[in-house]
Amino acid sequence: MDFKLTPLPGDGIGPEVTKAAVQVLQFMAKQSGITLSLNEQLIGGASYEKFGTPLTDEALNACLEADAVFLGAVGGPKWENLEHHLKPEAALLKLRKELGLYANIRPAKVFSSFLNASSLKEDVLKGTDFIVLRELTGGIYFGRPRGQDGEKGWNTMVYSKHEIERIARVAFEIAGRRNKKVMSVDKANVLEVSQFWRNTVAAIAKDYPQIELTNMYVDNAAMQIVRDPKQFDVILTSNLFGDILSDIAGMITGSLGMLPSASIGAKHAMYEPVHGSAPDIAGQNKANPVAAILSVAMLFEQTFKNKQAAQIIEQAVENTLQDGYCTEDIAQEGSKIISTTEMTKMVLKQCEQVYSDELV
Ligand code: IPM
Ligand code: MN
Repeated sequence: MDFKLTPLPGDGIGPEVTKAAVQVLQFMAKQSGITLSLNEQLIGGASYEKFGTPLTDEALNACLEADAVFLGAVGGPKWENLEHHLKPEAALLKLRKELGLYANIRPAKVFSSFLNASSLKEDVLKGTDFIVLRELTGGIYFGRPRGQDGEKGWNTMVYSKHEIERIARVAFEIAGRRNKKVMSVDKANVLEVSQFWRNTVAAIAKDYPQIELTNMYVDNAAMQIVRDPKQFDVILTSNLFGDILSDIAGMITGSLGMLPSASIGAKHAMYEPVHGSAPDIAGQNKANPVAAILSVAMLFEQTFKNKQAAQIIEQAVENTLQDGYCTEDIAQEGSKIISTTEMTKMVLKQCEQVYSDELV
């Protein structure tokens, strides 16, 4: 099988973690009989510096032609004051829209070796394993009218039936492969768009009788995630609410540097670590490559439908952490702190090991 990947390393630590991810992808692809062709492109500040735009048509076309896109990270203080459409973030939003990546899957899973790295108590956190499923191409991020004049600024939160139905179906499908619970999060006590969301999700739920659907207001959900995160399985929510809740969910795991994500559409898919570009440690070989590597596991599962390869990568990461190796950001007493490249090498070695154990 031939497979086209467009890596978009981006800014800050993006290039370092992308390199790690591509190495793991190349190794696992080889084991799985997949021939990879790479078409790397600039994005974000890196693209702005060279071409005066955060996303060139060439880069966009490379993504449209690819079977999957891997994104490192975009943004940095250097580009914060640029006009809206020139900011690195604008490239990301355009990419999501143009590729039709409406379903953003952000798992919040606690690694047993990092239970005490969280700001939450161990007994609150232990066993936490849920997914924030965020609608990614609609809602207030893209709604019209939008704008500002000297007197006011305005945005519009709008969802069509079609947009809600397709993301709701993804939620029920994912829950069907997990603990069979969907929690739809909205603000239906105030917003009409949320009342419409809630009714539309309830109608789709009829097609999935084996899944339990409940609803929660977003303010309560934010509170419940820190109070009792174990209660959640799949959180289904809109673009803005998902942006906020996924940051909370990421933080409580105590390991933002370890969380992967996938953005899926009808024709395209993009994989990226949840963390940002961390300009303060960029270029120092200190970045944690785990989130990027686990994003490759999501790629194997979602794009190749190869759950076994995904599990091998996850196990390899787990084994490396169990052995006490980690990057500086997640170091605890007794940790063996190593660099990005060393950590990647360790995980690759473990992939090889786990892979050959499974063949036996
Ligand atoms: C994210 C980010 C983006 C978002 C920004 C960088 C545009 O915060 O992926 O969560 O708001 O979606
Ligand atoms: Mn965000």
